[in-house]
Amino acid sequence: MSAHIIPFKGITPNIAESAFIAPSTSIIGDVEIGEGSSIWFNCVLRGDVHAIRVGERSNIQDGTVIHVSNGTFSTTIGDDVLVGHNCMIHGCTLENGSFVGLGAIVMDGVVVESGGMVAAGALVTPGKRVRAGELRGGSPAKCLRQLTDEERASLTNGAGHYAKLAQTYKTELG
Ligand SMILES: CC(C)(COP(=O)(O)OP(=O)(O)OC[C@H]1O[C@@H](n2cnc3c(N)ncnc32)[C@H](O)[C@@H]1OP(=O)(O)O)[C@@H](O)C(=O)NCCC(=O)NCCS
Repeated sequence: MSAHIIPFKGITPNIAESAFIAPSTSIIGDVEIGEGSSIWFNCVLRGDVHAIRVGERSNIQDGTVIHVSNGTFSTTIGDDVLVGHNCMIHGCTLENGSFVGLGAIVMDGVVVESGGMVAAGALVTPGKRVRAGELRGGSPAKCLRQLTDEERASLTNGAGHYAKLAQTYKTELG
């Protein structure tokens, strides 16, 4: 069992040794994934017409699609970022320690600042900024409220939990 790691136009995805890429996930072209990050089952990261970068200890949950816009918007995901199940992450920036809830759509030019949170099911429209400490949700997404201290702390704990679970999967699956 292995993931589909597919070179495109002479560029092979560059994946750190300690990253976990689940079988059934496809990673194509100009994609880099840092140490300790995890990309779970049935994801697609397609770096064909621009670059995709994922930092360290970040995790991308099952069924999420990450793409870019042709020559205009790359996708950059920092360190300790959590992206929930079934998200569409397109041509945007998720800064260190940010959080995207399950089923969210994040469009071109969006920036989710460190400590910002996108609620489950949100549609974050092009060019919007999700500020640090803000919960933005709905369709189209608006600021719902400020995060509590407990929620701010849990944003990074979630990524840490999955970083550990990923290492268990790496051992189990060989
Ligand atoms: C936003 C969230 C944290 C809930 O926040 P909450 O403050 O506890 O929400 P409540 O259920 O008390 O509802 C408060 C209000 O927010 C609204 N609301 C709650 N969740 C919402 C969401 N995801 N999107 C839009 N509005 C939402 C409610 O409708 C309610 O509105 P009202 O006051 O007009 O009636 C939760 O819905 C969420 O998105 N969690 C992310 C979980 C996730 O994706 N984890 C990833 C696991 S891999």
